[in-house]
Amino acid sequence: MPAMLMQNDSKPADAKPSDAKADPVARRRTFAIISHPDAGKTTLTEKLLLFGGAIQLAGEVKAKRNRVSTRSDWMGIEKERGISVVTSVMTFEYGDCVFNLLDTPGHEDFSEDTYRTLTAVDSAVMVIDAAKGIEARTRKLFEVCRLRDIPIVTFINKLDREARDPFELLDEIEKVLALDVAPVTWPIGRGRSFAGTYDLGNGRVRRLDAADDAGTVAVTGVEDPLFDALLTEDGEAATWREEAELAETGLKRFDLEAFREGHLTPVFFGSALRNFGVRDLIDGLARFAPPPRGQDADKRLVEPTEAKMTGFVFKIQANMDPNHRDRIAFMRVCSGRLNRGMKAKLVRTGKPMSLSAPQFFFAQDRAIADEAFAGDVVGIPNHGTLRIGDTLTEGEEIVFRGVPSFAPEILRRIKLTDAMKAKKLKEALQQMGEEGVVQVFRPHDGSQAIVGVVGALQLDVLKERLQAEYGLPIDYEPTRFSICRWITAEKEPELDKFIGSHGSAMASDLDGAPVFMATTAFSLRYEEERAPEVRFSDIKDYQ
Ligand code: G4P
Repeated sequence: MPAMLMQNDSKPADAKPSDAKADPVARRRTFAIISHPDAGKTTLTEKLLLFGGAIQLAGEVKAKRNRVSTRSDWMGIEKERGISVVTSVMTFEYGDCVFNLLDTPGHEDFSEDTYRTLTAVDSAVMVIDAAKGIEARTRKLFEVCRLRDIPIVTFINKLDREARDPFELLDEIEKVLALDVAPVTWPIGRGRSFAGTYDLGNGRVRRLDAADDAGTVAVTGVEDPLFDALLTEDGEAATWREEAELAETGLKRFDLEAFREGHLTPVFFGSALRNFGVRDLIDGLARFAPPPRGQDADKRLVEPTEAKMTGFVFKIQANMDPNHRDRIAFMRVCSGRLNRGMKAKLVRTGKPMSLSAPQFFFAQDRAIADEAFAGDVVGIPNHGTLRIGDTLTEGEEIVFRGVPSFAPEILRRIKLTDAMKAKKLKEALQQMGEEGVVQVFRPHDGSQAIVGVVGALQLDVLKERLQAEYGLPIDYEPTRFSICRWITAEKEPELDKFIGSHGSAMASDLDGAPVFMATTAFSLRYEEERAPEVRFSDIKDYQ
């Protein structure tokens, strides 16, 4: 166990991870939270960290206009706009488990970052606003999870506010996401009369008015007089009993296998703001969420229990701390044990790399990691050696799959207002590209670089960071191109021929891979038809 993990005295009421405490891999739970903006992800993150003892104070979530958001948000632009741009990781211990919570940006303009992060988790918590149900972004992120068979735990949030009927919400999850639902808890009242939750599995009640650690109280069933005391409006308790009985007998029960295969989601009700239902959720994660799973590499499946260390980089972040210009590669350990000081092989270059100062991240802090296990995410400081998608091993020539790059939807040409700084701009763009802030394409005709993004806010981030971190004032110019595709061909001469005859529409990405840029969808189709031997792709696997 990493010695520097923050300790937490509070033991979960009934969390019993089925796996042995001593087994470091079995104890790990590596997960992300997916939701539509405003559903409560930031608030829930904070409350989970509080349970884990990773932060001391509640009430970090401030009003949007001046809030610092959770501690995982750090950039000026995020503070200004109240959005979470970067992805980071927070490690905390609770009960017998070590949780690695991978934070994802809420705004859809940064979805690439989110997709990459979802390649590094074993499960996800889906937060749903009880008044709104499934919203667009939740649905999209759910689909990404489904593609990767990531099991989902659902938290229906904001029960303390006006909320929709719980049956209706469950029905919507089932229909819209084609996912079976199994409520673990059931809300007692909602909105102003929200009084707590009833645990359908063990018949215990968690009261909203009880102090957080007061635990749960046993009841004799839905007939228990406690419900009359909690639901005092006329006929309220009787209606609730009918509903709860129906929930108990008429809905699916939790089934671990169906959950782990991604067919069924356990559902918890609560209020992140009131810190209610969060303990049940975290206990649920400890009990149900899978420990690290095997990871697909090009040649074989790598099991987490294998002795040799392997891992892949899914995120690069530069200049996290303005006082210490640094560059951190976030690596998910896939197998074995990472020891500080060990030598690893960077498979892309074949060169050895010393892991002299791997780091763990907490809510407000980071610390040197002496050892890490499968499922852990460590930050590796480096000076540009590591890139997104890189695989590190103890010598084996394998490459982990599944950290893709998507063809950008917006292309802009960089306009440098100070021509003397062209060389500096080139270096800065190289770094920003390697970090995944934007994609950078260098036109073959030697003209100024073109940057590509999925969402327009990425352009704002690039501009702000170039100014703040490199003192480079830039602007953007439109380009005649609107679409780009990576091109490949079975036979190299065919590819060369295409590249040669499309000089002014060709560019190279950071790895030197050829990219064809088209002005319209129509012209792209035209070129595709004329060159059937060339494959035009809108996804590129980092390899
Ligand atoms: P996000 O990260 O998913 O975008 O959501 P965030 O946690 O920032 O929550 C969005 C708003 O919803 C916040 O309000 C937050 O306080 C509120 N909220 C979160 N969980 C609950 C809950 O369980 N109950 C209630 N009643 N509110 C909750 P805000 O930013 O302070 O202001 P506003 O957006 O309401 O104006």
